[in-house]
Amino acid sequence: MKHLLSINDLSKAEAIAILDTAQELARVSDGPMKKLPTLRGRTIVNLFAEDSTRTRISFEAAAKRLSADVINFSAKGSSISKGESLKDTAQTLQAMGADAVIIRHGASGAPARLAACEWMSGAVINAGDGTHEHPTQALLDSYSIREKLGSLQGKKIVIVGDILHSRVALSNIFALKKLGAEVKLCGPKSLLPKHIESLGVTVEQDIKKTLQWCDAANMLRVQNERMDKSYFPSIREYTQLYGLGLPLLKSLNKEIVILHPGPINRGVEISSGVADSDQAIILDQVENGVAIRMAIIYLLASKIMTPSV
Ligand code: CP
Repeated sequence: MKHLLSINDLSKAEAIAILDTAQELARVSDGPMKKLPTLRGRTIVNLFAEDSTRTRISFEAAAKRLSADVINFSAKGSSISKGESLKDTAQTLQAMGADAVIIRHGASGAPARLAACEWMSGAVINAGDGTHEHPTQALLDSYSIREKLGSLQGKKIVIVGDILHSRVALSNIFALKKLGAEVKLCGPKSLLPKHIESLGVTVEQDIKKTLQWCDAANMLRVQNERMDKSYFPSIREYTQLYGLGLPLLKSLNKEIVILHPGPINRGVEISSGVADSDQAIILDQVENGVAIRMAIIYLLASKIMTPSV
């Protein structure tokens, strides 16, 4: 594994190795030695051409806990906003000695383009590209479910909401199935990609039936910023049919685990009562994101990175 562009880059054994390494790194970080010297002298670039809070900050924290130098680079305030191309941006970063680039981009395939060309020699890590994939989110979600339920093998996981625009959904489907879980999708037909069942998932329209079936539910954000037309009559109707509030959660005859990748539209896909409840592991996901990203940077670095000369 030279780059991490898609969950499909990983075998099952590699995905498990990332989760296990993250678990070990989390244990070490919780001890007296918070910072490891592993990547001293290496330069990691956070290249974010789309907004982010959790992913950007946790990659920065992860790289710093491995003692790397971190350069944060956002489209806003950089020459990307003046129209500079991905190629020229990448070559500039290479000239500055970047050993790895973590990239978030609005264009699906931008990280793959960066990895395939010869503009850069370091590792490329996809931090979310368009509506395509968000592999590190799926790994931290898998880690969080495993931490809560003990294993993913045979567990029933539902992904609810705006599947069509969600890179989190696609990466989650690939990761959860690879790790042995059964995956169901629930959402308005207009927000479900055609032929999605070909990925080995089932589809259910009734949210109560779906939640009753599952062990864990990943409630996706309605991605208004990616919608070029109306996909449902109103937010109110969406919330009534696909939102999760406390009355629905408490009406189930079992306790399920609630995930949300963030940022949350409180009161739309999930109520504040549910987001802040004991069943929600949303802040665990954020915490686990640092460990997962440490593991990914560490594993890639120990395999392919060589010191810049
Ligand atoms: N889950 C996620 O990608 O959040 P950010 O957009 O805040 O990074």
